[in-house]
Amino acid sequence: MVLFTPSMQRYLLMLLLSAAASRISDCYDPLDPNGNITVTFDIFKYNNDGYVARVSIRNYHQYRHVERPGWKLGWWWAREEVILAISGGVATKQGECKASTDEKPHCCSPDPEVVDLAPDATTDSRTDGCCHDGVLAAWAIDPPMSYSSFEITVGNLDQNRTGYLAPLNLTLTAPGPGYTCGPVREAPPTVSSVVGGRREEQVFRTWKSECTYSSYLSSKTPVCCVSLSTFYSPDITPCPSCSCGCRIADQSANSCISEGAIPSNIPEAELVKCTDHMCPLRIHWHIKNNYVTHWKVKLTVSNYHYGRNYSNWNVVVQHPGLGRSLAALGFNSTMLPTTGVPEDAALLWGKAFYNTMLLQADEYEVGSVTTDLLLQKDANSFTLSNGWGFPRRIYFNGENCQMPLPDAYPRLPNGGPGRRRGLFLLITLLYFTCTMCLGC
Ligand SMILES: *[C@@H]1O[C@H](CO)[C@@H](O)[C@H](O)[C@H]1NC(C)=O
Ligand SMILES: *[C@@H]1O[C@H](CO)[C@@H](O)[C@H](O)[C@H]1NC(C)=O
Ligand SMILES: *[C@@H]1O[C@H](CO)[C@@H](O)[C@H](O)[C@H]1NC(C)=O
Ligand SMILES: *[C@@H]1O[C@H](CO)[C@@H](O)[C@H](O)[C@H]1NC(C)=O
Ligand SMILES: *[C@@H]1O[C@H](CO)[C@@H](O)[C@H](O)[C@H]1NC(C)=O
Repeated sequence: MVLFTPSMQRYLLMLLLSAAASRISDCYDPLDPNGNITVTFDIFKYNNDGYVARVSIRNYHQYRHVERPGWKLGWWWAREEVILAISGGVATKQGECKASTDEKPHCCSPDPEVVDLAPDATTDSRTDGCCHDGVLAAWAIDPPMSYSSFEITVGNLDQNRTGYLAPLNLTLTAPGPGYTCGPVREAPPTVSSVVGGRREEQVFRTWKSECTYSSYLSSKTPVCCVSLSTFYSPDITPCPSCSCGCRIADQSANSCISEGAIPSNIPEAELVKCTDHMCPLRIHWHIKNNYVTHWKVKLTVSNYHYGRNYSNWNVVVQHPGLGRSLAALGFNSTMLPTTGVPEDAALLWGKAFYNTMLLQADEYEVGSVTTDLLLQKDANSFTLSNGWGFPRRIYFNGENCQMPLPDAYPRLPNGGPGRRRGLFLLITLLYFTCTMCLGC
């Protein structure tokens, strides 16, 4: 029963893959359905003409962090508020202040923007979780570091406290675009436990907004791609060409740099080494050994960017064979909850003082971090055939990486193209069709 010729299958698969990819990037992430950055304004003190509020920023994303130069939080005041003083952060502009007070307020702008302080901030200007240059860790990796806060003394209001209004139109850049914040709403007052848990204290008033990420808003082309190889085949499946852009078309724009020559006058963003895939990052999956009870994969993340170090990078791997037991020898790892996702997913990140920094490429070599993954076999599902051993999806810092098409995967020496390949393609087709229906 032949439904499609191989070339028709390939074409259909391409169509479906690209459709699925564009839909998935614009809708919610099944591996992190509740991922968001929550911003809270807690009024814990009233003054004659305003209030003091603690503004907290919590990154609830399992595997998306905020890198240098860090978060920037902006809003519009609903009335004519000014920020008299601030600690744990700083407003980027003072704005125009009226000459009616003795001391000049910190910021009189109707739409202030606040950034974090550097780690060397003085003790009296610090707050809980402040002073990390705006960096927030991913929730599943380092919960205490996924939190930041600053305190603002707000003035220029009257004494009618019920008339104080929440800030409007919150904006969050973290550091680039991509986040959309919902309206700032009145929420139940935040309760915190003090005196070692013997007492609970409650703020006067709480306003809250949730900011969600869409890679569709933030970018741009993909940032990473996946290549594959195995011990049983000499073939290496490269990243799909033009995964992150096309070299030939862009060459006049000087958007990549040939080996060795690094001119000094090129914008930082364009300092990528010339390759067929043109991605700043490549993730290589090599099936290394097949033991009786286990199998081993070597995973390598390479940085082709000449001007960018990736600090606190992370990688998510989706594969049906991760669930039994996974040991990542060179990385730190944890399993992600996968309700509603057909495969297991592992989150991998660097070990402290060893490889949390993925260094930039230099004229001699690309930057890289690597590990062996030791996976326990499930006799019912483990197989070397039909590309089962390759990952279904890989994310770098939360961005979906471009995968090669299944018909380009390395083959078993004796398992040439045939009915099983056709069957595998058909299954893949069905899988992506289902992801498209269920994903959004
Ligand atoms: C934001 O994250 C919190 C904590 O995980 C969760 O309770 C809330 O439902 C999330 N909001 C959205 C819109 O996903
Ligand atoms: C205070 O403000 C609220 C809301 O704007 C208003 O309903 C109330 O009448 C005001 N109270 C006084 C004493 O002005
Ligand atoms: C806030 O956003 C709303 C709708 O998105 C818009 O109508 C309003 O003008 C904005 N307000 C300010 C002060 O930017
Ligand atoms: C990346 O790290 C290396 C080594 O620590 C350093 O020499 C280089 O300046 C860094 N690059 C950037 C863009 O900060
Ligand atoms: C691995 O992650 C755990 C949990 O986040 C952390 O406690 C531990 O220090 C990490 N280990 C290394 C070597 O980074």
